[in-house]
Amino acid sequence: MNITVAGTGYVGLVTGVCLAEVGHQVTCVDNVQDKIDILNKGVSPIYEPNLDELLIKNSQAGKLSFTTDFQDAYSRSDIIFIGVGTPENEDGSANLNYVYAVSYQIAQTIEKNCLIVVKSTVPIGTNEKIELFIKENLKNDVKVEVASNPEFLAQGTAVKDTLNASRIVIGAESKEATQALTSIYEPFNQPIVTMNRRSAEMVKYASNDFLALKISFINDIANLCEVVNANIEDVAAGMSYDKRIGDKFLNAGIGYGGSCFPKDTKALHWLSEEEGYVLRTVKAAIEVNEKQKFKLIKKARKDFRTFKDLKVAVLGLTFKPGTDDLREAPAIPNIRLLLNEGAKVHAYDPVGIPNFKKIYPTEVHYELSIEETLKEADVCFIFTEWNEIKQMDLSTFKRQMKNPFVYDGRNCFDLKQVNNSGINYYSIGRPSINNYFVKQKVLI
Ligand code: UDX
Repeated sequence: MNITVAGTGYVGLVTGVCLAEVGHQVTCVDNVQDKIDILNKGVSPIYEPNLDELLIKNSQAGKLSFTTDFQDAYSRSDIIFIGVGTPENEDGSANLNYVYAVSYQIAQTIEKNCLIVVKSTVPIGTNEKIELFIKENLKNDVKVEVASNPEFLAQGTAVKDTLNASRIVIGAESKEATQALTSIYEPFNQPIVTMNRRSAEMVKYASNDFLALKISFINDIANLCEVVNANIEDVAAGMSYDKRIGDKFLNAGIGYGGSCFPKDTKALHWLSEEEGYVLRTVKAAIEVNEKQKFKLIKKARKDFRTFKDLKVAVLGLTFKPGTDDLREAPAIPNIRLLLNEGAKVHAYDPVGIPNFKKIYPTEVHYELSIEETLKEADVCFIFTEWNEIKQMDLSTFKRQMKNPFVYDGRNCFDLKQVNNSGINYYSIGRPSINNYFVKQKVLI
């Protein structure tokens, strides 16, 4: 059985590599020649643990290949997975241009009966529309069916999440399509849940939006903890023993970012409004997150009326650790705000700097180490909880900074340790640690 995967981004590439890893014959297609050239050299264009190894292993075994020649790939395919991006439109709706562009290419080039599997996150009802669109544009007399198979991988653990998925969701309208997909996924040995296409499309949105809601809820409670003098970490720990709540996704911080939660919450909210229904809970999750992004700056304004001409140290740029992805990273709007105010921003991130340079090539001073970044700084903001940051010696702040004011958006440090470190420390949903003498230095 010939499998083709359209798109070599996070979803497409990881899907292609993992399908080859379990024994399938896979061709990955992308229209960007540079990406295909890199992939053919055995290098992944995205940073993802274990991806390079599996990519090389399966390419060398002849099970995995990369090409821009979609005509050749699609014409030989029995199954085509669509894993291209569905970014956010200006109004929050999902942009399906890439999905339709690929669908058109498929319709024009397939030469045998083919199952088209939509992995991209698409609004409810899109699979039906794609099937109709492909059928209308078919060049050859072949049968096609479109099935939904949403992807639940998280960045930084994408390969692990795919090879050991919590579940495989298959949404199809015919027994044949369900059976074909079930047999493709059998070697993964994971729970397979089958349903119709619309329900499968909804599973993806509902899962992501539920997790986003969980984060916004804990952030909302964290903000209240600050007001009533409670500690969010103790509160979350106390809640987590209830199995119905669990201990995951209860980390308070400066909000969720990434390629999924912000986009998928807005897309479902937009879609429900289009249908005349207001999804109040998801709307609330979005609103809380928008405000949460600027929580640190708001706190810092109590000590600093302006950031103009101050040396601001930023630790962590990516939307979470373990990835070089900056999509919807809270660091971006915060740094923009600091720069607009005339701050001298010095930033460090273990892997995110090359991508950040594409946004701010010269405005930000990029440093090679935490120590260099903190040198003579007036204030420090932590936006990503990289291990390197969590494990740093707290005395570094006092030693390196002009004024050790630390605003930690990811609760990286234990409060007991911070207590004796001689720094002014503010985190999310936990008591602040104010060292009077340090503060005096700034106010004088
Ligand atoms: C997410 C989903 O986890 C995944 O199943 C889906 O397919 C795609 O979206 P991803 O965006 O890669 O994956 O990262 P995830 O680890 O879920 O984190 C998303 C954001 O939430 C990050 O900005 C992270 O910092 C934030 N987060 C997560 C919190 O603020 N608190 C938490 O407790 C967990």
